[in-house]
Amino acid sequence: MNFDEKITNAARNNKTRTVLALDLEDPEPERLASRSRQILEDVKEFICAVKVNRQLVLTLGLSGVADSILKTAKNNSIPTIMDAKLNDVGHTNGFMARTYFDLGFDAIIASPVVGWENGLDTVFDAAKSRGKSIILLTYMSNPGAEAFYSLTATQPNGTSKPVFEILTNLALEWKAHGVVVGATKPEIIKRVRTLAGPNLSIYSPGVGTQGGDAVEAIAAGSTYLIVGRSIYNASNHVEAAKSIRQATGTLKP
Ligand code: XMP
Repeated sequence: MNFDEKITNAARNNKTRTVLALDLEDPEPERLASRSRQILEDVKEFICAVKVNRQLVLTLGLSGVADSILKTAKNNSIPTIMDAKLNDVGHTNGFMARTYFDLGFDAIIASPVVGWENGLDTVFDAAKSRGKSIILLTYMSNPGAEAFYSLTATQPNGTSKPVFEILTNLALEWKAHGVVVGATKPEIIKRVRTLAGPNLSIYSPGVGTQGGDAVEAIAAGSTYLIVGRSIYNASNHVEAAKSIRQATGTLKP
């Protein structure tokens, strides 16, 4: 089963659109691993994927992430995303992509601004040969993102477009599985959905803690919500995950 089938199945089975972002911080690796694994176990029936960030990789190491998170996710049929935001030259990107995929991740987040040739070509090659998926940053959720992603750029053929529209078109051309568009930007989500059509998955981080509204993001066209602190920092993380599912699980993008 490829990533698209895995996340679609998990979303359907658990009636949810929530991707759990695990970015907990703790200098003590054993405590971090056990808390992260516990949260994943506790909310597994309310999520359709888990996204791991560098907080875990840098503290637990690759084998620690594999033992604590990837194993638990796999045992529960929860697909996994590495939020690597790959953004380097080809040989370095390729090495990182192969390493994360071969560790067991089903999908990786990369930045399209590095371009195709000797940029993300190696990442897409690594994904294709392994049946894995790529998700591209298209409009970030933080307030500073506007300074770049909304710029109007003139392309080599002379046409001018906002950067995020150019990046959406690249995602379609390169056959990415999906794009990341902040939940804090419903108007941008709408525009990306219109440009991309129904088949490109839109992942929206920024719900809750960053000010984005889960229901508004789905209504605008997001396929999945990426949620971290609003779940793992909640006084009751199970109830927090459950209430996001209740609000959005049956909505159609
Ligand atoms: P919170 O705690 O704000 O975490 O729910 C959100 C998660 O998503 C990541 N994040 C982003 N990832 N593009 C991304 O690819 C974004 O615009 C973006 N904004 C937040 C963040 O690293 C965290 O894991």
